[in-house]
Amino acid sequence: MTSPELTTPGPSTPAPLAGPVGSAGPASCFVTVEGIDGAGKTSHVDAIAERWRARGLEVLRTREPGGTPLAEALRELFLHRRMDALTEALLVFAARRDHLVQVIEPALARGAVVLCDRFTDATFAYQGSGRGFDLGVLAQLEAWVQQGRQPDLTLWFDLDPATAAQRRAAARTADRLEAEPLDFFARVRAGYAGRAAADPARFARLDAGGTLEQVRAQVLAVLEARGW
Ligand SMILES: Nc1ncnc2c1ncn2[C@@H]1O[C@H](COP(=O)(O)OP(=O)(O)O)[C@@H](O)[C@H]1O
Ligand SMILES: [Mg+2]
Repeated sequence: MTSPELTTPGPSTPAPLAGPVGSAGPASCFVTVEGIDGAGKTSHVDAIAERWRARGLEVLRTREPGGTPLAEALRELFLHRRMDALTEALLVFAARRDHLVQVIEPALARGAVVLCDRFTDATFAYQGSGRGFDLGVLAQLEAWVQQGRQPDLTLWFDLDPATAAQRRAAARTADRLEAEPLDFFARVRAGYAGRAAADPARFARLDAGGTLEQVRAQVLAVLEARGW
């Protein structure tokens, strides 16, 4: 296993990340959960973590934006201050870089399973499709910041925006992004659909409109199909 540290990118060519990309099996894999606010992601993450911990795996449960002291501080700014789309994208990728360098890459290098509540697909869906920010610029930032690192599996909790809004309204006070109107979330959902279509091997779409138990069964089916 090579050093878990990220190398500093050169002026034009990002250096490869340490360690193999897309390692197989439940050990040393990188799993993300995605979907619009209120889709049910957080409701299922702990159960997934417990399933793997019960098998003796080290599970790092983390989230984006966030996951390190610096990235959590950036998250607070991101969620509560007004800013333009480019600032939003730069802030979230800055947080992601710190998270990768400090936490995710070292965890994967020592064989842990990393379970992350949102990652780059959310940036494409929210800042790209939701805000209309340039997807090509996001792809450039993705390449620079991640240097080839992608999740091994992305569980996409797909839910219609109206149902998600009802669930949020019943559960919590909206943050800056959650306060956006339904048509914003419809664009975000379409953004997730585009990312899933572009990388079907990585994405597992879950119909998040069912009961908690029905969604849980779908999550289990996806994991069991991989022997995870
Ligand atoms: N399948 C479901 N049916 C009904 N309510 C749900 C379901 N999944 C989650 N919820 C509820 O909806 C709210 C939002 O769920 P949460 O897991 O926080 O979503 P997210 O993390 O995707 O924003 C919570 O109050 C949760 O209990
Ligand atoms: Mg959540």
